[in-house]
Amino acid sequence: MSANNSPQVRSPPMGWNTWNAYSWNVTELDVRNAADALVETGFRDAGYEYLVVDDCWMAEELADDGSFRNHPENFPAGIADLVDYVHDRGLKFGIYSSAGTETCAGHEASLGNEQRHAEQFAEWGVDYLKYDNCGDHRDRDAIDRYAAMGEALERVDRDIVYSICEWGNNEPWRWGRNVDGHLWRTTGDILAKWKRSEDDEFGLGVVDIIDEMDERDIAGYHGPNGWNDPDMLQVGNGPDSAQSQSEGFTVDQPFREAEQRTHFSFWCLFAAPLMAGNDLRELDETTREILLDEDAIAIDQDPLGIQGTRDETDGDREVWSKRLAGGECAVILLNRGDEPVDIETSVETVDLHLPDDVGSYAVTDVWSGEEWTTDGSLEATVDSHGVAFFRVGAA
Ligand code: GLA
Repeated sequence: MSANNSPQVRSPPMGWNTWNAYSWNVTELDVRNAADALVETGFRDAGYEYLVVDDCWMAEELADDGSFRNHPENFPAGIADLVDYVHDRGLKFGIYSSAGTETCAGHEASLGNEQRHAEQFAEWGVDYLKYDNCGDHRDRDAIDRYAAMGEALERVDRDIVYSICEWGNNEPWRWGRNVDGHLWRTTGDILAKWKRSEDDEFGLGVVDIIDEMDERDIAGYHGPNGWNDPDMLQVGNGPDSAQSQSEGFTVDQPFREAEQRTHFSFWCLFAAPLMAGNDLRELDETTREILLDEDAIAIDQDPLGIQGTRDETDGDREVWSKRLAGGECAVILLNRGDEPVDIETSVETVDLHLPDDVGSYAVTDVWSGEEWTTDGSLEATVDSHGVAFFRVGAA
């Protein structure tokens, strides 16, 4: 179980995944169109390089020898052909399977066939595997099941990024690196909503995941080659998205714009993998502006790879921060309440590693682009469910 043959994943992976927009109805035509759209809309050039085909690309049953077969109606041309199409557009190709007998949509999956499947992925030219936790586990524990695929990927002659999707059930941040994982889901499935409701059979809203990322106290496990993954982005999605239409959810109102900026700001503060899941056929200006914001993405991709944490709570007002390379710092002022509020903190409170005697600090507001200097106070009026998102350094 050495990481010697494993690819280096020095910054949080960025890409686009089919699940939230297409759910189990995805087809190879959708994937081709998404590849074209990622290029035309500027997503690829902003860093979204992996196109990940989630559940349902495979036939319902494996072949007699245990190998995967492509879904006969929805992926008739086969995966190798699709990988070529994606590679030809300067993107990398991600695929999906599960560390159980079946995927979450009930197609036969990889438990017991890890080596055969890893070899198929390598032959097809796959660059990334999202490995889920559904199906029967045949009494094998999570570490054993995820190590089996980690070892299989190590043995094939291709660099394949290994994304562990175990939902945080068995604290994968403790063992993900040891099974050659490069990222691991920390939490349950994200829904296209601010907060989960009691009626949801499973799934979490954006603010539920933000809380769990802090309460689980996992920032110490996070960094280059081993990333905590709070799940895909729901920016641009809502009640009509294919995933929202799946059984068991009540996504009854669209995100507010402020909520979407909050969602993206926190994923960047967390140095989270940025896997967009919006419908690229209906890309509106707000979604594009949020997901392609260079200053926010730079905070996500900062070379230190630190996961931001909560510094202060005062009722609905919260202050979060993380250190950046070059002695700078990213700060979020969050308003969880229903009315706009003033939030104020100071550079001494946030995790800023600047000399005490600097005296003057330069602040850039990520979302407005405004710049100013301060002697230490950081403050803003923040909308309901919104954030102020700052980069702070010595003036
Ligand atoms: C699980 C995963 C999701 C998605 C679906 C596909 O719920 O957590 O991210 O991959 O399965 O069925």
